[in-house]
Amino acid sequence: MVAYGEDAVSRITVIGTGYLGTAHAACLAEMGFEVLGMDVDQEKVDALTRGVPHFYEPGLEPLLHSGLSFTTSYAEVAVFGDVHFVCVGTPQRAGSYRADLSQIYGCIHALGPLLDRPCLVVGKSTVPVGTAERLAGQLSRISPAGHGCELAWNPEFLREGHAVHDTMRPNRIVAGVTSARAEAALRELYAGPIAAGTPFLATDLPTAELVKVAANAFLATKISFINAMAEVCEATNADVAKLSEALALDPRIGGAALRPGLGFGGGCLPKDIRAFLARAEELGVDQALSFLREVDSVNMRCRARVVDLARELAGGSLRDQAIGVLGVAFKPDSDDIRDSPALDVAATMHRLGATVTVYDPVALGNACQVHPELSYAGSALDAITSATVTLLLTEWQEFCDADPEEFGRVVAKRNIVDGRNALDADPWREAGWTYRALGRPY
Ligand code: UDX
Repeated sequence: MVAYGEDAVSRITVIGTGYLGTAHAACLAEMGFEVLGMDVDQEKVDALTRGVPHFYEPGLEPLLHSGLSFTTSYAEVAVFGDVHFVCVGTPQRAGSYRADLSQIYGCIHALGPLLDRPCLVVGKSTVPVGTAERLAGQLSRISPAGHGCELAWNPEFLREGHAVHDTMRPNRIVAGVTSARAEAALRELYAGPIAAGTPFLATDLPTAELVKVAANAFLATKISFINAMAEVCEATNADVAKLSEALALDPRIGGAALRPGLGFGGGCLPKDIRAFLARAEELGVDQALSFLREVDSVNMRCRARVVDLARELAGGSLRDQAIGVLGVAFKPDSDDIRDSPALDVAATMHRLGATVTVYDPVALGNACQVHPELSYAGSALDAITSATVTLLLTEWQEFCDADPEEFGRVVAKRNIVDGRNALDADPWREAGWTYRALGRPY
């Protein structure tokens, strides 16, 4: 049981049931806590109440069972919980690099006045450093429990597509706290993963906020580093896939986030490095992070360079070309298309006059809402039928396992751009395909 205040408590609320909040709520229920998830979106709450996640995440659905309920009511949240996790979104602000914090301030202002007994509010959302200290002050001012109502910051590092594993067995737990009581509560709450060997690091609030953005900045930098090397490889006829393999064998470098290709997207890395840049400017330390601008530019260039490869294979122009696109999710095992490099490339080729037909195992519904102008197919083979160029843009396993002969029989021309360096080039070339990938000799 989590000890908080006078009583032993086991009732937890999770506010914001997006990817992060839903996975967190489901995993806490799986660990044996009674959990109430809350979201302002009635449709999400209805779906989750029926036990159906409103997004694709392997292994999550079986966890949406007993011990877990959902509501749209802050009043219920305040009555129910002794520990309240805040998992609302902090997207990029329109027309700016800064994070839009309206959801997080909205949450604290709605919840605070209802908190009339000692409790712990734990932020998990990714926020600009300094936000937690401001929120802590506001919370103790507006809540009837006053200083009995504490704030902690406990950033989340889960990867989409691996949300359940990363939540049940995180590689570290970082707890930004301002009291021994809050630290004890979080240690109790995470007793399971801690007993299984997960390191627990107690920090102050700004350090906890920074760990998250620094980790994402580092991962983004690694990805852009190898993609910058791909540009150098192209100028020198070297092979970035081999280069990456060799670099990865140095234990000081390691192979994670070193796969070259179309670059990073999704709901975290792109907006987090931009928000970090914006915050650094406010803090007067923009010079220290100016390299992140380059990280962002290298990343955006990958998309343009993949379009260039397709154009080259199409003979110099994409106008009126039939193009087959495999994958539009920002990564495999996810239906998330936020800032998806794959979808961006597909939409750009359409703007350049191509007829683009897209297939993705799970992300088509989301893609078609945002880009109704593209054509959508029910299978990989349908998407590439009669294509003059085929592009693999999200490395779903079924595309990596594709048979070059079978694919070759339906296309108009055997031209493939491997946007994710996911295919073994030799069998494709042996089957008569012109195989191209960023940073690879041809
Ligand atoms: C990321 C972080 O990994 C996670 O710790 C953080 O909490 C949230 O952001 P996620 O967005 O799920 O998680 O995706 P991740 O697996 O890190 O991939 C991000 C993007 O980088 C994807 O578009 C992926 O395709 C791309 N990527 C990843 C590469 O291009 N090369 C790589 O080597 C790794």
